[in-house]
Amino acid sequence: MSERFTIKLDGRSCRAAPGETVLDVAGREGVSIPTLCHDPRLEPAGACRTCLVEVAGERRMQPACAFRVRPGMDVTTASERIDRHRKVLYGLYMADHRLDDAGLPEENGSANMLREQAARNGALALPPVNASRTGRPADTNPYIRFDPELCILCARCTRYCDEVEAVSAITLTERGASTTIGTIGNAGLLDTSCELCGGCIDTCPTGAMTEKKSYGIPHAELEAVRSTCNFCGVGCQVDLNIHAGRVVKVASPPPGETVNDGNLCVKGRFAYDFIHHEERLQVPMVRGRDGELHRASWEVAIRRAADGLLAVRAKHGADALGFVSSSRCTGEENYLMQKLSRAAFGTNNCHQCAAT
Ligand code: SF4
Ligand code: SF4
Ligand code: FES
Repeated sequence: MSERFTIKLDGRSCRAAPGETVLDVAGREGVSIPTLCHDPRLEPAGACRTCLVEVAGERRMQPACAFRVRPGMDVTTASERIDRHRKVLYGLYMADHRLDDAGLPEENGSANMLREQAARNGALALPPVNASRTGRPADTNPYIRFDPELCILCARCTRYCDEVEAVSAITLTERGASTTIGTIGNAGLLDTSCELCGGCIDTCPTGAMTEKKSYGIPHAELEAVRSTCNFCGVGCQVDLNIHAGRVVKVASPPPGETVNDGNLCVKGRFAYDFIHHEERLQVPMVRGRDGELHRASWEVAIRRAADGLLAVRAKHGADALGFVSSSRCTGEENYLMQKLSRAAFGTNNCHQCAAT
């Protein structure tokens, strides 16, 4: 069965393809269904139950993120029954998502999809519960923080770690009300196979996984500026989060928007301290007669380099020179480097580090 077919979505006819979920079709049709455990990069888990919809002929409501469409299916995404379900569900989540006496800040560095959706859907006010979940207080890794009080066990972080990173450093551990996000032997992340990609932070819908370095900075005060990571030539896009004129966090743009599809490596994500480091080179430096490096203008520095290269060529010939460029440069910059080597200095001794 590979032919496209028709289903009914809130009374209107929509085209659908075999293998698509109700959520796929709804997204294409502009019908909004709340989700928490859904991440388009991951296999559906149907874990959070926020996306339940009514399907004609099915006694129970079904998770739109995991339920595959069938020809002639009749789906309702908004009804009194669905409203009632969401109010209770968000009420239960919020009862187990305490921010007051747990000593947690009103808002940490991550967006909190749960609280936004709970407010939008009118969560029932239920008495707080005191879950026995625990984190890993002895985990001294400097980057990733886990707050069990904010976790709804949607398993996005563990599925990301497993399905996207293929690392499986974290997993659901313990049982019943004590179920939590753990590691083998409750080890700190630095003692596991964790690659510190930070993808678990970006995918977490509640702020339970956050970056330690920017913890406590209100999300609303962060300004995101899209940029290109300069650690290698892949060209991953990053959202530099700025607070008080300083980069305090790096996040990936959402999946599907950029070449890196919501992913980053440890360098792109966490190695941003150099931006404001006091020893960072910000102007060209030229060695003087005294043997020391001195600040110089670009014109002076380029002139000095050109004079040196020309002097070598005059004395030993062009093939005494070699030009090595970097995968951290753009394609255009690499092109110009080989042009400089071949056309300006007359040697084919040019190389780029990624070519080895
Ligand atoms: S940082 Fe990456 S590798 Fe480490 S636990 Fe999170 S998702 Fe897994
Ligand atoms: S830490 Fe976040 S992503 Fe992981 S299970 Fe808890 S709420 Fe979901
Ligand atoms: S988003 Fe569908 S069950 Fe969580």
